[in-house]
Amino acid sequence: MVEATITRAGTMKEKSVGGELEVRDVSKSYGTDRYPKTVVDNCSFTVERSKLTVMIGPSGSGKSTMVRLLASFEQPTSGAVLLDGKKVTKPDRERLVVFQESALYPWMTTYENVVFGPKAQGRQGASLADAARDAIDRVGLNQFQKSYPNQLSGGMQRRAELARALINDPAVMILDEPFRGLDAMTKGLMQEYYAQLFESSRNTHLFITTDIDEAIFLADRLLIMSNFPLRLRQVIEVDLPRPRRLADVVTSDAANQLKMTALSILHEEALKSFAVGNQSADHFIESYKQRYRSGT
Ligand SMILES: Nc1ncnc2c1ncn2[C@@H]1O[C@H](COP(=O)(O)OP(=O)(O)OP(=O)(O)O)[C@@H](O)[C@H]1O
Ligand SMILES: [Mg+2]
Repeated sequence: MVEATITRAGTMKEKSVGGELEVRDVSKSYGTDRYPKTVVDNCSFTVERSKLTVMIGPSGSGKSTMVRLLASFEQPTSGAVLLDGKKVTKPDRERLVVFQESALYPWMTTYENVVFGPKAQGRQGASLADAARDAIDRVGLNQFQKSYPNQLSGGMQRRAELARALINDPAVMILDEPFRGLDAMTKGLMQEYYAQLFESSRNTHLFITTDIDEAIFLADRLLIMSNFPLRLRQVIEVDLPRPRRLADVVTSDAANQLKMTALSILHEEALKSFAVGNQSADHFIESYKQRYRSGT
């Protein structure tokens, strides 16, 4: 979707405001009809327009499987994925995914990696070069346009991947644990960087994570997912002010309250991987709940 805005120079410019992605009663099973393995179990939720929605769930719960369904790399066994009310069945540039592992081509420079997708779509010339420079500029890699991935730090590689997605200006950007595996300091910097990118564009984003601090810092809306198989447990609106700084969120009472609410659900879900009736798990969850009830 586009809306017209008037630039400072007084000319009309079309600005993308993002799409709205709806997941309607989606299930996904593998295996045979007789012995199905259900990974996504009747999920329904909306990734609202111009918001940053964060999906958080335990490792192995089925989040990346859901991402593949959202991008139409795979089809749901039942239910449907809709973009702006229309059912989607094929991958396209409107729903772009940044994956948890690096997908940069090692034999291409940053610039070449960024223009590779649009070139394959037939875009060329000065407008493509301008768009590539703009995307690289937005992720702060101007000085590294001619560098190869192995000449970039881990954080820079993730930023190059963001540029590669940004140049397509997708209706919905889906990021599957893009900062997983980065050291704590780089991860913090990337989170602030990404929050600024989102705040400056206000497109529709879905960000997947297993990290509660990252989730609260980034989210407008938090989708808390179950343990395997994937279900929606709860939606939390995170109405912390923007622009956000990590230091402000860490010391915010409102953020900590939201974090405790989310954590109590996530811990319940994580403990489901223990055998039913496991006494130490039961004991742990009971003392955990009491701790939250008494606020200590
Ligand atoms: N093609 C497949 N066939 C059978 N099982 C699958 C298939 N794809 C995924 N699964 C199963 O689905 C489960 C969830 O995997 P998935 O990668 O979606 O989890 P995840 O939440 O993204 O985990 P993580 O946070 O560690 O990335 C795993 O147990 C996996 O074995
Ligand atoms: Mg995953």
